Amino acid sequence: MRLLVCGGAGFIGSTFVRQRLREHGDAVTVLDKLTYAGREENLQDVRDEPGYAFVRGAIEDRDAVAEAIATARAEAIVNFAAETHVDRSIADPDAFVTTHALGTHVLLEAARAHGLRYVQVSTDEVYGSIEHGTFTEDSPLAPSSPYSATKAGADLLVQSYFHTYSLPAVICRGSNNYGPYQYPEKLIPLMVLNAMHGDSLPVYGDGMQVRNWIHSTDFAAAIGCVLEQGLAGQVYNAGGPDEEPNIEVIRRIIELTGAAESQIEHVTDRPGHDVRYSLSSEKVRALGWEPRVRFDEGLARTVAWYRENAWWWEPIRSGSYRDYYERQYGRSLRD
Ligand code: NAD
Ligand code: TYD
Repeated sequence: MRLLVCGGAGFIGSTFVRQRLREHGDAVTVLDKLTYAGREENLQDVRDEPGYAFVRGAIEDRDAVAEAIATARAEAIVNFAAETHVDRSIADPDAFVTTHALGTHVLLEAARAHGLRYVQVSTDEVYGSIEHGTFTEDSPLAPSSPYSATKAGADLLVQSYFHTYSLPAVICRGSNNYGPYQYPEKLIPLMVLNAMHGDSLPVYGDGMQVRNWIHSTDFAAAIGCVLEQGLAGQVYNAGGPDEEPNIEVIRRIIELTGAAESQIEHVTDRPGHDVRYSLSSEKVRALGWEPRVRFDEGLARTVAWYRENAWWWEPIRSGSYRDYYERQYGRSLRD
């Protein structure tokens, strides 16, 4: 297939690009704005693969999208492009509205004009929080944060293009991802790097919030499965095999890094914090997908990757991330 992958320079997008080029023989053009979270370093190992091309631009920019579709001679668009951090959406939601609402709209219009298949990458957070039980694709949307509300808005727009224009569009909603190349604002890489550097480990509230963890290679494979086999107009959930309270995840990171339990610091809770996410993946499993990486094994491998790849995170940890960290946590990172 010839794919246009939007947001392919981010954490999960780059994992997907690697899989499609190497394991499926696809041609892949990446369109990415290269925000603070998007980095060409994430794709440096595929730069010379046959069929790979990169266009720098925003999905809300019609000209950039047209150029990228032409470069790709695309048969399908897979859209990962997003602002992805809940805390940043609470502090400053503007870019979330632009990228998720306007950007998705521009991509859908382009898909309609060129008759392209369309995959929207989405999140379990659109369903909101669930204390007991598990969300299915039929659960109502009840997003809590500006991040999840704008992602839900994008999903509804995608579905409207299927209903109104018969656009062959599908949505794949993942649970919390972890793995190599994840920007350290997110729980797992933040805790790993802080643990390694002797910084405090900032737990929001009591740390008993539960997340359903999926390794990024498993989520990327689910998106590939939905791209190839998903029925137009349908939603497919892809959750990981393990649910864990945050404090338990942090304790395991302490063990894996040899950090001290005394580094844990309970800090002010996130406003509107979702207590638990849980996702049923029966529908995508029926297409032949299943998660392969259990959390214990995936977390150990992820910690090892961060330990061995300081070239990747050193420029982040010494750059604008330090300012973000000070604004968000009210303290500085150690050098
Ligand atoms: P990320 O923040 O690592 O990467 C996002 C990428 O999108 C970056 O390369 C960034 O430069 C690019 N981007 C942002 N705005 C853009 C714009 N306007 N135009 C073009 N490119 C733009 O994110 P991620 O964790 O890899 O998430 C990818 C997708 O998966 C997102 O749609 C997210 O909502 C979804 N998702 C993420 C998770 C998770 O746990 N990380 C879970 C479920 C779903
Ligand atoms: P995060 O990685 O931001 O993902 P999401 O909010 O999309 O689930 O956070 C995962 C969980 O970890 C969430 O319950 C918030 C919590 N958390 C902390 O306790 N401390 C932190 O510093 C961060 C970033 C997250």
